[in-house]
Amino acid sequence: MIGIFDSGVGGLTVARAIMEKIPGYDIVYFGDTAHTPYGTKSSETVIGYTVNNIEFLLSQGASVIVIACNTASSVATAEVLGRFAVPIFEVITPAVELAVNTSKNFRFGVIGTRATVTSGIYEKKIIEMQPAAKVYSIACPLLVPLVEEGWLNKPEAAMIVKKYLHPLKTRQIDTLILGCTHYPLLKKVIQRKTGRRVHLIDSSISVAGDIKKFLENHIEVDKQLGKNGKLTLFVSDVTDQFEKIATMTLKTKVEFNCVKI
Ligand code: DGL
Repeated sequence: MIGIFDSGVGGLTVARAIMEKIPGYDIVYFGDTAHTPYGTKSSETVIGYTVNNIEFLLSQGASVIVIACNTASSVATAEVLGRFAVPIFEVITPAVELAVNTSKNFRFGVIGTRATVTSGIYEKKIIEMQPAAKVYSIACPLLVPLVEEGWLNKPEAAMIVKKYLHPLKTRQIDTLILGCTHYPLLKKVIQRKTGRRVHLIDSSISVAGDIKKFLENHIEVDKQLGKNGKLTLFVSDVTDQFEKIATMTLKTKVEFNCVKI
């Protein structure tokens, strides 16, 4: 099974991208709804949650782990790589690779939670790959609650997105990384505000592409993965929002199990 976790529901955008890229693989998803949001928590706390979440997914039979949460990927990847005997994917590196390969002028915008932006991980990785790059990062803490309220097409959502993106207007970026699980759901609004000249990088799509390539090159790992198209969802707390956003993201009614870990 491919084990995916997120601080909550947003990571279902990653599950959806994986299901589209490599259909048929069994997936177990854990949404840590009891502890969401991660984006406002300290690194130590997020690292602790990340370790617990991975242990839980392994106990459910996962043999590949995907850290769908940008915040956990930013602050906890270094702590968990090498600690578990299974491949672990995070969402930052594939997004950076795609962004650097897409940009023509190497002027990048990054939007994410406060924790992700404070970690500076996107800038660090972009500059490592392209030393001439200019990176402008903006924390957008109001976007997660907007998505969770389902306010995707409200004028207020467009106004808030506009306000957040305003400082990028004069930076001449040609590529903007959506550095948070929830932002792909606001893609249309964001694209309207940036204009079509700016490429949006959706980290859910880039990580799905990386997993596909990895499995093609690692048959021994691929063989361990069930391929009955089964999706099992766990959450650490039952909330109305989970069901609503899960249905909105996966475009189908879903069932989920509550588990205290
Ligand atoms: N999943 C988080 C992320 O991608 C967003 C929600 C949260 O703050 O927990 O950064």
